Amino acid sequence: MYRDPMLIKRIDITRLDDCLALAVSRDWTPDRRVWTLMFEIGAVFGIDDPGGGLAGCVVSTRYGTRLSAIGMMLVAEGFGRQGLGTRLMEHAIADGGTESTWLTATRFGKPLYEKLGFRSVGECTRYAGDLRLPPSGGSRPVSIEDVPAMVRLDAAVFGAPREHVLRAVLSAADQVRVIEGTDGVRGYGAAWRNVDNTAIGPLVATDERTARDLIADLAAGSDQPIRFHLADTHPELREWLESHGAEREFDTTAMVYGASLPGDRERLFLPLTLATG
Ligand SMILES: CC(C)(COP(=O)(O)OP(=O)(O)OC[C@H]1O[C@@H](n2cnc3c(N)ncnc32)[C@H](O)[C@@H]1OP(=O)(O)O)[C@@H](O)C(=O)NCCC(=O)NCCS
Repeated sequence: MYRDPMLIKRIDITRLDDCLALAVSRDWTPDRRVWTLMFEIGAVFGIDDPGGGLAGCVVSTRYGTRLSAIGMMLVAEGFGRQGLGTRLMEHAIADGGTESTWLTATRFGKPLYEKLGFRSVGECTRYAGDLRLPPSGGSRPVSIEDVPAMVRLDAAVFGAPREHVLRAVLSAADQVRVIEGTDGVRGYGAAWRNVDNTAIGPLVATDERTARDLIADLAAGSDQPIRFHLADTHPELREWLESHGAEREFDTTAMVYGASLPGDRERLFLPLTLATG
């Protein structure tokens, strides 16, 4: 039977090294921990390169029926401009099948996404640097008793169920800290050690003060440069972080397909990754 070598199929963690090789070929950092998480919480789709490895891949992470996120969109240079990227995106949108689909686009992907019907909803900047922040002392490591309150706060802010993702974060992140107020958990944040930096996210908080304190305390525990993605919704937080050593690396555009984003996005301070929201 003839098999189309350019078929899109769901791939599993046994193809992790092929994903990393494809990422490196497009000058992306081969972040093994992030990709491992993608296989755990999302659906990873790939197109085989008949010569070995992957010609393209994309990841769809679904949050119930309300929202899905698409990320890790990569096509090998030798297979560019043949429609693979468009097909992978269409496949990921259909696989999610949710009311809204969210992604953040580099300037390379944006025209393709616009053609497919995505619209821009804001800008996001990746920052990195040695943050010179005194610890706030207001947070503490998360405990098992905090989880229900953390999940409730997250659901109100994110607007779609992502308990499965939070549980993966709780077991895989190096640090998860919470700040408690008189009426329960006011915010939580996670930090992840990568090869040459510590990434902070997700970070959800009821107000900017709480977000600042969480960032300061998560950064204080690291001997590496800190990295995070910040939306343009909190200009004062940006200014404060820039004045304490955070440097702009690159911008992406947040885009939505279908219904407007659910939840209370003003309180979603930092995403888990650009691929997941
Ligand atoms: C961005 C990226 C995913 C696009 O993948 P791709 O497979 O080249 O995408 P497509 O082929 O579907 O579309 C790209 C262009 O080729 C054109 N095209 C598609 N099929 C074609 C064909 N058979 N002949 C000629 N052109 C074609 C499309 O119309 C589109 O044109 P445009 O750039 O003028 O809008 C790829 O370049 C990539 O991986 N870049 C590096 C990583 C990256 O930036 N990823 C996106 C993160 S948001």
